Amino acid sequence: MTEKQLKESVSYLHKKGFEKPDIGIVLGTGLGKLIDEIKDPVVAAYNNIPFFPLATVEFHTGKLIYGTLENKKIVVMQGRFHLYEGYDLVDVTYPIRVMHQLGIKFLLVSNAAGAINLEYQKGEMMLLDDHINLQGGSPLAFKGVERFGERFVDMSAPYCTKMNSRLLAIAKENDIQLHKGVYASVVGPQLETRAEYRFLGRIGADAVGMSTVPEVIVANHLKLPVSAVSVLTDECDPDNLKPVDIPEIIEVASKAEPKMISLFKNLIKEL
Ligand code: HPA
Repeated sequence: MTEKQLKESVSYLHKKGFEKPDIGIVLGTGLGKLIDEIKDPVVAAYNNIPFFPLATVEFHTGKLIYGTLENKKIVVMQGRFHLYEGYDLVDVTYPIRVMHQLGIKFLLVSNAAGAINLEYQKGEMMLLDDHINLQGGSPLAFKGVERFGERFVDMSAPYCTKMNSRLLAIAKENDIQLHKGVYASVVGPQLETRAEYRFLGRIGADAVGMSTVPEVIVANHLKLPVSAVSVLTDECDPDNLKPVDIPEIIEVASKAEPKMISLFKNLIKEL
């Protein structure tokens, strides 16, 4: 990644009309419907944006969408890049840097995750309060990183406390169950073994998934306030583990999606 590449990506998007978005949003697996609510959408397919990684996984349609939501200019990533698709961590987080260059002031991230904390049930949501990076690398471990921000990024409060308290308040006001917890990111794409789920619980994770942490690290690198919400799609009980059912995971995410949309829309109104 170079400054020149970033400039070219941004200049392509400017030409398409992506003018000064206030907020960036990353939509996770099974969580794409927010885009139906965007007014005057402008769409850029990832494959057409210079220097964007190429989208691969089928259920990710791979588009950047610009438009208006709750009277705010937003830019939404429908589908994200994962380490398990063969990208590296710099690729995975490239779109975050592009959205930052477009001018976003806030970042909202969503994902589908497994519930490690067995007090949480599938179909419910969890606000990320903290995370554990188990992806074996950093999106900041590259030559020249200091040209984009400082190298030794503070991680004492990776999630924006102001946005997080607003999200909890919004959930309460709207009778939406929103847990708070620690998200562990793994590489995937295989799901976890019983021993791995047990391990994740013991090290303090409440949920596990294959995304989000690299994006959050880069948001912190860019001093971009970020909040993230997991939709819990399966219960990871090591003593009673059923074989994984990916269509079910996607279905659970879609069912919970209206609640997530409502949280994000209400927060956006206030930003
Ligand atoms: N593990 C990892 N990623 C996931 C899971 C899981 O159980 N559920 C949804 N994404």
